[in-house]
Amino acid sequence: MKSFQKEISRRRTFGIISHPDAGKTTLTEKLLLFGGAIQEAGAVKSNKIKKGATSDFMEIERQRGISVATSVLGFEYKDIKINILDTPGHKDFAEDTFRTLTAVDSVIVVIDVAKGVEEQTEKLVEVCRMRNIPMIVFINKLDREGKDAFELLDEIEQKLNLTVTPLSFPIGMGYDFKGIYNIWEKNVNLFTGDPRKDIEETVEISDLNSEELDQLIGNTAAETLREELELAQGVYPEFDKVAYLEGNLQPVFFGSALNNFGVRELLDCFIEIAPKPRPKDSDVRTVKPDEDQFTGFVFKIHANMDPKHRDRLAFIKIVSGKFERNKPYLHVRLGKNLKFSSPNAFFAEKKEIVDVSYPGDIVGLHDTGNFKIGDTLTEGEYLNYRGVPSFSPEHFRYINNADPMKSKQLEKGIDQLMDEGVAQLFTLEMNGRKVIGTVGALQFEVIQYRLEHEYGAKCTYENLNVYKATWIEAEDEKSEEFKDFKRVKAKFLAKDKQGQLVFFADSQFSLQMTQQKYPSLKFHFTSEF
Ligand code: G4P
Repeated sequence: MKSFQKEISRRRTFGIISHPDAGKTTLTEKLLLFGGAIQEAGAVKSNKIKKGATSDFMEIERQRGISVATSVLGFEYKDIKINILDTPGHKDFAEDTFRTLTAVDSVIVVIDVAKGVEEQTEKLVEVCRMRNIPMIVFINKLDREGKDAFELLDEIEQKLNLTVTPLSFPIGMGYDFKGIYNIWEKNVNLFTGDPRKDIEETVEISDLNSEELDQLIGNTAAETLREELELAQGVYPEFDKVAYLEGNLQPVFFGSALNNFGVRELLDCFIEIAPKPRPKDSDVRTVKPDEDQFTGFVFKIHANMDPKHRDRLAFIKIVSGKFERNKPYLHVRLGKNLKFSSPNAFFAEKKEIVDVSYPGDIVGLHDTGNFKIGDTLTEGEYLNYRGVPSFSPEHFRYINNADPMKSKQLEKGIDQLMDEGVAQLFTLEMNGRKVIGTVGALQFEVIQYRLEHEYGAKCTYENLNVYKATWIEAEDEKSEEFKDFKRVKAKFLAKDKQGQLVFFADSQFSLQMTQQKYPSLKFHFTSEF
């Protein structure tokens, strides 16, 4: 039992979020280098969709291949087992990222020193903030000219609605970048600009007023640093671990991922303060990681890249207990027991079959169609983890069968792609027509391509003018108001795959008018309420 506790406490499962190009891939790679998980830079392939490649399907397939490989990157550092969960930066795949965020215990937010807070960062941080996920901010590319440190910290507070406290502070920037004062460790790291050096030159400075600082970085820089640190001390709250863990305070580090500068400091602080696996709410009770019995949930499904093998990999986050190979577990939604003979654990560049996994770990289970996103596995208890909702899609099209001989294949393909969470399927109440709703426009092309290549089915689309789909909850399903709503809005009603009632609003205005007209109805923007 003691070793079980120890295994839990040494796990850190987190995600790195950023706007594309801020340096997420580079930082991931440098973290893996520190863990000794990879030997050289360039080993982690970028999974971002390159600009201009959006209609190149081979490119999409290639990216999908990479994204399987980098879905979970596990490595050890100072006896801590670290799992980085990959989050796609491309906005059309934002829903994937939102779902992955349900499986992390904390996040690192990467911000480009020159660009500051960008759109995707705002959206993703908002999701983390709503869930009180502890966040550390890494301001990257300090080797380049960028915004002033105080200006950036202000921008982060205002645009991201965070309360920050710098744990390191830059000395100069761009051409004049001399290094970083590490407030957390109370030392100065000098920037040599040599990325091959694993550890930068670090000089302990216990007293900021000492002459040594002047000698190291020059009088002017030393004076400026003293003033800036004093100002920072006056303006920002002191670091408080509890506030960080509760999502109320966000420590900030500065560095340059490309130059491997400031990364070790970030990692050392991270393993010390970042949370170990946390308890999670289910529909019945809160489940603690150190409970004996295994529970976990599916947050991602990845289809096999080889169309001849239709099996998929379901990614399970272990919430409590031990996950053991060949032990029967209850698939709660289906009410049946399943055994897994070859669960995969993830390491930097490979996956391997493992006998036992612990809370915080991710296991990949081969699946022939039993799983969909959000499913819960237990040792017999009937509980469901919440918090993996479908989001209101923003793009809608009718989907038509373009090859009547292949209607079965089409149905199966759509069914499985929806389970993977690629998009959502709705059936219009009025005429039974099928509508696909997606968060990004790119998904329509992905679906069409994959239906053809993996299922041998062909589809066409027809435009449908819908602004947003909202899930409807009626306090009283027998009320006159609900009956009236169903009659008047019959043309705009659909069912989702679970049979829940959905209203298609064709504009923001019509959504508002409908909400006003039917005050007893609730219009939800996610499927979970
Ligand atoms: P992403 O995953 O967040 O999309 O970003 P990625 O790491 O791919 O980094 C985006 C670009 O920024 C890359 O350049 C990368 O080399 C560069 N970069 C990352 N960290 C730093 C840094 O600390 N300083 C500087 N100056 N640049 C940095 P690229 O030219 O787009 O790609 P590549 O051809 O270099 O791979």
